[in-house]
Amino acid sequence: MSKYASWTHGKLPLPELLELKRRGQKIAMVTAYDFPSGRIADEAGVELVLVGDSAAMVVLGHDSTVPATMEELLLLTRAVTRGAKRPLVIADMPFGSFQVSDDDAVRNAVRFVKEAGADAVKLEGAGPTLSRVQAIVGAGVPVMGHVGLTPQSATMLGGFKAQGRTAEKAERLYEDALALEAAGCFAIVLEAVPAAIASRVTEALQVPTIGIGAGAGCDGQVLVWHDLLGLYEGKAPRFVKRYADLGDAARRALEAYVADVREGRFPEEQHTYAIPDEELDAFEAWLGARV
Ligand code: KIV
Repeated sequence: MSKYASWTHGKLPLPELLELKRRGQKIAMVTAYDFPSGRIADEAGVELVLVGDSAAMVVLGHDSTVPATMEELLLLTRAVTRGAKRPLVIADMPFGSFQVSDDDAVRNAVRFVKEAGADAVKLEGAGPTLSRVQAIVGAGVPVMGHVGLTPQSATMLGGFKAQGRTAEKAERLYEDALALEAAGCFAIVLEAVPAAIASRVTEALQVPTIGIGAGAGCDGQVLVWHDLLGLYEGKAPRFVKRYADLGDAARRALEAYVADVREGRFPEEQHTYAIPDEELDAFEAWLGARV
């Protein structure tokens, strides 16, 4: 049995996401930010790799995703697309790269495809984002939507907290998701949304929903690489499941290395290069004669 949910070879064809939803097969998505994480995600069989603007926090050490720039996201996306061959690689459009105008949004989305090899882009929000989605899709670049908790507008949403928890807000979220589908999105991320609402949205949409803190009723799930692998310090949101503690493993490995260096246990013979005896003798003779 193939490790992939789908049956084709090479790059996952985008329309297969619809087929996976139709067949009730769940879609796995993870973020990645460099060549090795893209390669490992591919080897693990995920369908979608997101070069998230979460990089601003988990890779670059900012307090929010807002400072992420086009140049930073382009650099990271280039590295990820070199590693992730089979999955669709989606570049997250950073704050400021699509808010100003449709033209700006198209120009920046095209840069991700042409300069970084991305297969698609992701945009946060609905409302004014809808015309951006139409414009980018119209230019031939597939777009993933993102509603619920949209970290780029966390200040306006009152912080990093669940969305759609009143009937009125849930109605709005439902309509936003439908509008994003109508605008041309091929999939929609639902972040920090009550499971019951996410299930209803999922049933209403033809395109797949990818949940993060949105329950098991979504068509797929996404987690941030550093959260999943235990590489991020600080309080994780309740929707994070940690599958490994690589941060702790890395710390312990580095402590062992530091101790070995200090105690002279590293490097050993096996880590060093030899020189033929006669060459060494000649060198020593030269050294002895040198004034
Ligand atoms: O930037 C990101 O990592 C994201 C995911 C949490 C969906 O947008």
